[in-house]
Amino acid sequence: MAPPPLAGVDCTHPGLAEPRTKEDWVTYVFYEPPPRPLLPPYDIYKAMDRDSTERRHLNRSRNRYHSALVLAWTPAISHFETEITELLAANEMAPPGARLGLLIDGPPTVGKSTLVKMIARKFEQDLREDFPERFAPERLGSYVPVVYISLTDQVTPKQISIAIARYLNVPTSGTKDTIDDRVLTALTACGTQLIIFDDLHFLDCSFKEGRASNDHIKFLANHVPCTLIGTGVDLEDSPLLSEGGPTGPVKQNSRLKTLASGPRTQTAGRFSRQELTPFALDSEADILQWVGVVRSLEGALSLYLHEEESLTRRHWRYLHDRTEGSIAGLHALLRRSAVRAIQQGTEAITRETMDSIILSYAHERAYAKVTELKSRKSTRGRSKQQPAADGSA
Ligand SMILES: Nc1ncnc2c1ncn2[C@@H]1O[C@H](COP(=O)(O)OP(=O)(O)O)[C@@H](O)[C@H]1O
Ligand SMILES: [Mg+2]
Repeated sequence: MAPPPLAGVDCTHPGLAEPRTKEDWVTYVFYEPPPRPLLPPYDIYKAMDRDSTERRHLNRSRNRYHSALVLAWTPAISHFETEITELLAANEMAPPGARLGLLIDGPPTVGKSTLVKMIARKFEQDLREDFPERFAPERLGSYVPVVYISLTDQVTPKQISIAIARYLNVPTSGTKDTIDDRVLTALTACGTQLIIFDDLHFLDCSFKEGRASNDHIKFLANHVPCTLIGTGVDLEDSPLLSEGGPTGPVKQNSRLKTLASGPRTQTAGRFSRQELTPFALDSEADILQWVGVVRSLEGALSLYLHEEESLTRRHWRYLHDRTEGSIAGLHALLRRSAVRAIQQGTEAITRETMDSIILSYAHERAYAKVTELKSRKSTRGRSKQQPAADGSA
């Protein structure tokens, strides 16, 4: 039996679990991360006994705060917010079958799921402000503008419909046709405008159910009066885009690439695909974007002795090397470093603190390669300089 919830204690965090129902989603929409703790002056903090309840309490709330840190509203998020808002506006009264959807394609840990949820949350918050009557208590739960479905491995068409049914709180019993019918009716009745399918790569066509599940998403795209947004890894060959291979990039900037889909099936032209890539340092604009993200996370730290903007000014390149430009890696490194800085009493994140943190295996391997490459380059550089320095060239 599940333990009873702790009454009055805020120990849950909707961001920790994917929303599975409209109630979960509303909790997510209203969720505010732990606030920045109010710190007493450093002298008073230092004078507290290390084991005192007061100090433990303060540090626990700082750890909680750091564990959520902040989510940065990055240029990529702004870009996709504009795209999605425009799609929603252009699709609102469009006839069935004429509505275009968007697939956001990118490697793991670039922040795809976070991005779509942040945008959808803001979309719903704006609706709540603009149309309070739609969310009036007597209509509780009957207006559901956003449906968020996180797909699972080898998901079948019926499971997709069941996930939507469960989200909307409609019965999940019966045949696939029965559930489909209920789901289509419910989506229309709830006024759903935006459906998000997260982790579309789980509709892998090399598995038995993959193609059928893709066809099912196309079927939904055709029949529901909503805008569909999907995220996933390596969606280039997704049957949602085409039956054939994709054509090359038509527009490109550092983090976002818009690609035209290849030969089209009847529904193939209904999705565009854009990439979300890790942060790069290839141009000044790229560097500014990365530095901006570092600055917003660093600015949120709650440490007594951390030198303001030291990471932003001195360690931005190191942070990129450590994390391969992954926002997940950066967030994890700063969260862990902040907790360690408090635990060890240094109260500052320095290069030494960050060096002592072990990140994910993938990030550590990539960093090992970068450092090896850099040390080879500097050895080559030194051996080239050597003769000149000796005067023997
Ligand atoms: N905008 C952001 N600001 C700060 N951290 C972020 C942001 N987006 C993602 N992250 C961090 O990266 C982690 C993984 O992001 P996620 O959206 O799950 O990536 P993906 O879906 O691409 O695999 C998040 O849990 C969070 O710690
Ligand atoms: Mg994800």
